[in-house]
Amino acid sequence: MKLVLEGKAKKIFQSENKSYYIQYFKDSATAFNNKKKRDFNKKGIINNLISSDIFIYLNKNNIRTHFVKKISEREQLIKKVDIIPVEVVVRNYAAGSLVKRLAIKKGKKLKTPLIEFYFKCDELDDPFISDDHITLLNLANRDDIKKIKKVSIKINNLLIKYFRKINFILVDYKLEFGILNKKIILADEISPDSCRLWDIKTKISFDKDIFRENKGNLLKSYNEIIKRLKIEVKNV
Ligand code: TMP
Repeated sequence: MKLVLEGKAKKIFQSENKSYYIQYFKDSATAFNNKKKRDFNKKGIINNLISSDIFIYLNKNNIRTHFVKKISEREQLIKKVDIIPVEVVVRNYAAGSLVKRLAIKKGKKLKTPLIEFYFKCDELDDPFISDDHITLLNLANRDDIKKIKKVSIKINNLLIKYFRKINFILVDYKLEFGILNKKIILADEISPDSCRLWDIKTKISFDKDIFRENKGNLLKSYNEIIKRLKIEVKNV
């Protein structure tokens, strides 16, 4: 298979059918723009299970996504889309960089969900950008930005419900979108690598903050998400 792109946690391969790619989940975890790195045995398998389950749920709820199907332990068949190089962060509670930047108390519930944009650019450390920066850099047009905000709120409502059912608070997370036939399509992954998930009762993290902040056992926590979701697992 021809490798199209290798990222920090995934690889993208060309599929036999030129309209599709194969997304492969690696075991590597990075934080702080690659300054901290480690492999976690089978993390890729776990993230593929969780992200596939979430994308199936979003597809069922009429969100347009790139996800077609899970094809192996570590692989998904996905539609080829033109990725918009913007990370869309949705926040329901204050944590991470929001706490650092604006001194809002960690764990404070936000009055309404907050949507933020970051320019996907490793050399610049993914800087925080505004709608005007997005149009200035020609990353997306005004209409697409409006659509991205609208669909992000829809996704947020669905994901809050999805995680509340299994006793997690969805604190914040990162989405990526692409364009296919002029339509905005949800792409990339949604996994504990790209979300903050806190247990409803204890407020303990079950996400990549375990690795960022050296707290707890990452694989054990990711496996607990699988267990709570009752995802059928072979050999994880
Ligand atoms: P932040 O608080 O560090 O800005 O992160 C907000 C959310 O976005 C958090 O759930 C982690 C996720 N995220 C990524 O998935 N990739 C990234 O590169 C960054 C910076 C954050």
